[in-house]
Amino acid sequence: MEFEFILVNPTFAQHVALIQLNRPKELNALNLQLMLELKQALAHLDDQDEVRCIIITGNQQAFAAGADIKQMESRTPIDLLKIDQFETWDQIRKTKKPIIAAVSGFALGGGCELAMTCDMIIASETAKFGQPEIKIGIMPGAGGTQRLTRAIGKANAMELVLTGKFIGAEEAKSLGLINRVVPEELYLDEALKLAKEIAQMSPIAVRLAKESVNKAFESGLQEGLYFERKNFYMTFASEDQKEGMSAFVEKRKAEFKGK
Ligand code: HXC
Repeated sequence: MEFEFILVNPTFAQHVALIQLNRPKELNALNLQLMLELKQALAHLDDQDEVRCIIITGNQQAFAAGADIKQMESRTPIDLLKIDQFETWDQIRKTKKPIIAAVSGFALGGGCELAMTCDMIIASETAKFGQPEIKIGIMPGAGGTQRLTRAIGKANAMELVLTGKFIGAEEAKSLGLINRVVPEELYLDEALKLAKEIAQMSPIAVRLAKESVNKAFESGLQEGLYFERKNFYMTFASEDQKEGMSAFVEKRKAEFKGK
């Protein structure tokens, strides 16, 4: 797959695809074209049975320093309404396969929001997270106020959103924003390790479980519990459920086929 602002490797490892944001001179600032490409690449990978887990990364200096301020600077509210840029974000959020953000350097504004739109975040110890929009007279628009608040609680989210300050990877970990912090040279390896572990599971169970965890994140408890129950029942319609449980009883490793 050829794109201008991202690099896509559908066979990065067995069952694992890699998408690299690739505007290094602009610290991977997320312009509209890049987001459109990301949406297209994710939709394509989501359709490939061979791909079971997707990693999104940037480079050592930046995951992404936010939406492209130069592109947004002169926009009017009506321009923004017509461009409807969040439609791409909604599509990314609908990706069925698990997405791991492998973050090094800046993950700011839309960059932090993109990492939070992924399902898990592995960070290098040099990673810096923040929602600095307030410093340029705007506020987060791609889910920052909602996802950050759910992830780290009201007091912490309020402070980050209202001051625009950055936090390091260790603090992000202690607040519950990210999964793990590793030395800079290992962040992609660590994300790959996690992706490979998930890729061994039943793709059907993974898809339904991802949907269900997201439901907990996005809805009230009662609605989430009913949704989870329905998806739990659905896993019993798969051959993988039979295989997984037989393998447990027979004390052998399960061979999942995605059926
Ligand atoms: C456009 C950006 C950019 C951005 C960096 N650059 N961030 N261009 N949009 N968000 C460009 C710079 O203009 C510069 O290009 C080059 O990348 C290197 O950046 P420097 O500022 O020279 O690097 P440094 O001094 O190391 O500072 C790094 C930084 C700073 C702290 C990350 O660049 C910064 O504060 N960036 C903006 C962060 C931000 O406010 N993000 C939120 C955006 S709003 P030139 O050509 O000038 O050398 C947002 C809304 C989301 O994300 C909601 C909608 C999706």
